[in-house]
Amino acid sequence: MWAGMHRDLERILIPAAAIESRVRDLGAQIALDLERVIGGDGTEDDHGELVIVPILTGSLVFVADLVRRLPLKLRLELVGVSSYPGKSMETKGVSIRHELPNILSGKHVLVIDDILDSGHTLDVVTRLIRDQKPASLRTCVLLRKPGKSTLPVRPDYVGFDIPDEFVVGYGLDYDGYYRNFPEIATLKPEAR
Ligand code: IMP
Ligand code: MG
Repeated sequence: MWAGMHRDLERILIPAAAIESRVRDLGAQIALDLERVIGGDGTEDDHGELVIVPILTGSLVFVADLVRRLPLKLRLELVGVSSYPGKSMETKGVSIRHELPNILSGKHVLVIDDILDSGHTLDVVTRLIRDQKPASLRTCVLLRKPGKSTLPVRPDYVGFDIPDEFVVGYGLDYDGYYRNFPEIATLKPEAR
């Protein structure tokens, strides 16, 4: 069934079962932390609302799985960011494609992205959020390429540290493709 895509993939770096179990653990850890932060049932007259901010499009699949592991009262507010126009595999600056609404003041915010590479995406998005004066701000990425970022961005939650290779699947794309592949894989050089 996945043959058309498998032809382009080099090797599976993280199988679906490993992703699933890590997402379950991350969910448990984040739920515990956030429950403490929002207190009570998380309503406004309590200690503040919880807002999850997924960075689209790459975090789509991860967020769908992760939020179902967070048994807390929360809202989703999307921000759309593009860092690889077309077929490039290098970060070419960050452009906002879908703006964040100006409603995060006083809220407890958790930003979620698929991968931390140069750190520019998370840096830009966390600046935009800090400008709105949230009550607290946490960041979570599924993947991190250690040592690649020169910026002072330190995610609070990291799913996996991976080698410095270009990966696709589970939301991550090359030229918009492979996001629906259920595992995280490297691409064959000839598919790039
Ligand atoms: P950064 O801004 O360099 O940290 O890169 C983060 C963004 O670049 C992520 O949101 C991804 O969309 C994209 N990205 C970085 N590395 C990869 C990769 O290996 N595969 C697919 N997308 C990537
Ligand atoms: Mg992305």
